[in-house]
Amino acid sequence: MLVSAKEMLCKAKAGRYAVGQFNINNLEWTKAILLTAQEQNSPVILGVSEGAGKYMCGFSTVAAMVKAMINELGITVPVALHLDHGTYEGCLRCIDAGFSSVMFDGSHYPIAENVEKTSALVKLCGEKGISLEAEVGAIGGEEDGVVGAGECADPDECKAIADLGVTMLAAGIGNIHGKYPANWKGLSFETLAAVSEKVGDMPLVLHGGTGIPEDMIKKAISLGVAKINVNTECQLAFAAATRTYIEAGKDLQGKGFDPRKLLAPGFEAIKATVKEKMELFGSVGKA
Ligand code: 13P
Repeated sequence: MLVSAKEMLCKAKAGRYAVGQFNINNLEWTKAILLTAQEQNSPVILGVSEGAGKYMCGFSTVAAMVKAMINELGITVPVALHLDHGTYEGCLRCIDAGFSSVMFDGSHYPIAENVEKTSALVKLCGEKGISLEAEVGAIGGEEDGVVGAGECADPDECKAIADLGVTMLAAGIGNIHGKYPANWKGLSFETLAAVSEKVGDMPLVLHGGTGIPEDMIKKAISLGVAKINVNTECQLAFAAATRTYIEAGKDLQGKGFDPRKLLAPGFEAIKATVKEKMELFGSVGKA
């Protein structure tokens, strides 16, 4: 069964750890993340971007696959199925499709419009028991065609959006999707501390989890981050393991071309990455 992300994130914020959101792209990705969460006895959030939703034949296909997999694999840890960086219409479609959590990314709208659209979703999600993530201050970098410059959030705007009744809030603090450039200045802990003070108990979300040094992750958690999104790192791990397999000529040996063999090293690499992140975020044993 899917659950809203609310309870797991409130517990994480109170317990000073973070729950990982790992984005999914297909069956192997989903299975790897669910099995690792179960093995580590950790709550988990499966993230689906609008592009990945389209790739997987629509949000209802994704919801059906995830629900069936939880059942078939006997997954008992809390799992939330979450729309990542959704449009307003995308949120409505995911709510209809059976997602248990959505993110409305209104960060590119003027604050008044972000407030108006977020308010409408707060009402709808509240009625359905679905968690809602809002964003203030763009996350830098490029993800699925969404490009942001990485501006830091205004703490007062964060408070205005938090007060609408969203479940969790993503605040831009100099974080970037994808790999961090060599001249990256690091996270703005000053912004994070100011936002944290304004929004009180609300769980904060750190996007762009790939490549943030461990000490910065720990400090961010200590300042109120309770959800950390990781996407690119699983993709890189999958690609590297698959490359190694093919470069070693293993696909040419015996039945090495069988997709269940060909995709196995990448699958294991995703599992290892997710395990490492759960350990770093402190969510192991917290299911
Ligand atoms: P990365 O791809 O940098 O890990 O970011 C993931 C993310 O923030 C998804 O919303």
